[in-house]
Amino acid sequence: MSLPNIVSIPVLKQRYQWIAEPLSFLEQAVKLHPNIFTAQIFGAKQPIIFVNHPQAIQEIYSNDRKIFTAPGNPDGVLKPLIGEYSLMLLDGEPHKRQRQLIMPQFHGERMQLYGEIISNITDRVFSDIPQNKAFTARDITSDISLSIMLQVVFGLHEGERYQQIKHGIIGMMDLFRSPLAFSLLLFPFLQKDLGAWSPWGNFLRRREMLDKLLYAEISERRSQLNDPNRVDILSLLMSARDPEGNSMTDKELRDEMMTLLVAGYETTATAMAWGLYWLHHKPILRSKLLEELDSLGENPDPVTIFKQKYLTAVCNETLRIYPVAMTTFERQVEEPVELLGHKLKPESYIWGCIYLLHHREDLYPDSKEFKPERFLERQFSPYEFMPFGGGVRRCVGYALALFEMKLVLAHVVSRYNLELLDDKPEKPQRRGVTIAPARGVRMKMNGIRVPQKSAVPVISK
Ligand code: HEM
Repeated sequence: MSLPNIVSIPVLKQRYQWIAEPLSFLEQAVKLHPNIFTAQIFGAKQPIIFVNHPQAIQEIYSNDRKIFTAPGNPDGVLKPLIGEYSLMLLDGEPHKRQRQLIMPQFHGERMQLYGEIISNITDRVFSDIPQNKAFTARDITSDISLSIMLQVVFGLHEGERYQQIKHGIIGMMDLFRSPLAFSLLLFPFLQKDLGAWSPWGNFLRRREMLDKLLYAEISERRSQLNDPNRVDILSLLMSARDPEGNSMTDKELRDEMMTLLVAGYETTATAMAWGLYWLHHKPILRSKLLEELDSLGENPDPVTIFKQKYLTAVCNETLRIYPVAMTTFERQVEEPVELLGHKLKPESYIWGCIYLLHHREDLYPDSKEFKPERFLERQFSPYEFMPFGGGVRRCVGYALALFEMKLVLAHVVSRYNLELLDDKPEKPQRRGVTIAPARGVRMKMNGIRVPQKSAVPVISK
């Protein structure tokens, strides 16, 4: 039993490339070893097996409570940010129970309510952009995404604490934006508090300030527990009891809220910025989308917008080409098993490589081309298209993320005339744990759009 297809690039170079140029590292490795390879991005002692073959992905992700498990990573890189009680770090039964609590909140009737929140926030943010002025789409979608998370997840509304928490989170996430700063999370030996001016010291002080605000909110909300108008996730988690009748502690609530904010805010904001980019980089696609949206008449309800086929295809293609998360979280081999003809030993670590899966030419011909039509022409299985991962750790916020992405893109494209400022294509670049447009998508606001009246949608597939 051995590690399959070890990438022969020197270990230090692999580490550097994974941080600074992760996509070209993956493309280099897959050229040498299609389907499966072992990389040493965390050093030779902790090799990671990258898998991008749909059959292997299916074997792993339909079996990740037994032969392959999805271990919580108690010493994971995000622990200083999200805390030890985070869903991402929990394992086994506690992980399962916590997911069962959270998942239903992103489905069903609540979505109608969330739809209204999303439309109102999008309108507020876009109507503040001055005419003929340049702006960066990534900043705007960040603002929208964070405001949505604060209202839907935290149940916070405009006010002093809302603004303070919002700025606290932006400040903290910005600290890890550059690849160099991201390495602070990767290498514990860099995590030294050398005063407020040192990078780690700065992070610790910002975290302390933000925690004070979060705990103040949690404490205030405990006194309003019986308010029937509250539909946010914090209120729900506060009322939940475990089988022994215990409720979550303040620290547990804080960690879960931070997890949802960190996991949901940057990712969705990045996906929406990419969506705006592609729709304006390829105006023909925008026209097709507008025909579909205009055929719905004035003010269609959020669920109708969500179901539109071309809009869905545009969002799927956006999440395919640069999938925001390049890989899933790790899966661990529990017993000797064969995968794609390679014998794997227990305690090997596997990452499903979403980026490479989404660029398999056998599934997505001309994979570097943005073509929403591929999602109208064929249905992809969950092991061929997996922007939200799969199995027992599949993204808990996927329904909210897709809802948000579709409503915001539909709203913006049908109500505003926007223009890209750069002719050059946007390049993907690491931003924390996501892959984001390097220049942030520079745009200009050209004013309000007048919808065309069209009775029949052109997209019929
Ligand atoms: C476009 C936006 C998003 C993308 C691309 C995305 C992607 C992912 C991926 C790939 C995973 C790992 C799945 C695996 O290992 O199989 C994940 C996990 C997770 N996501 Fe998302 N996500 C997005 C939005 C959100 C939102 C809006 C939330 C919360 C409101 C969220 C919360 C989480 C959480 C808590 C986990 C960990 C689940 C667990 O450990 O059980 N994500 N996400």
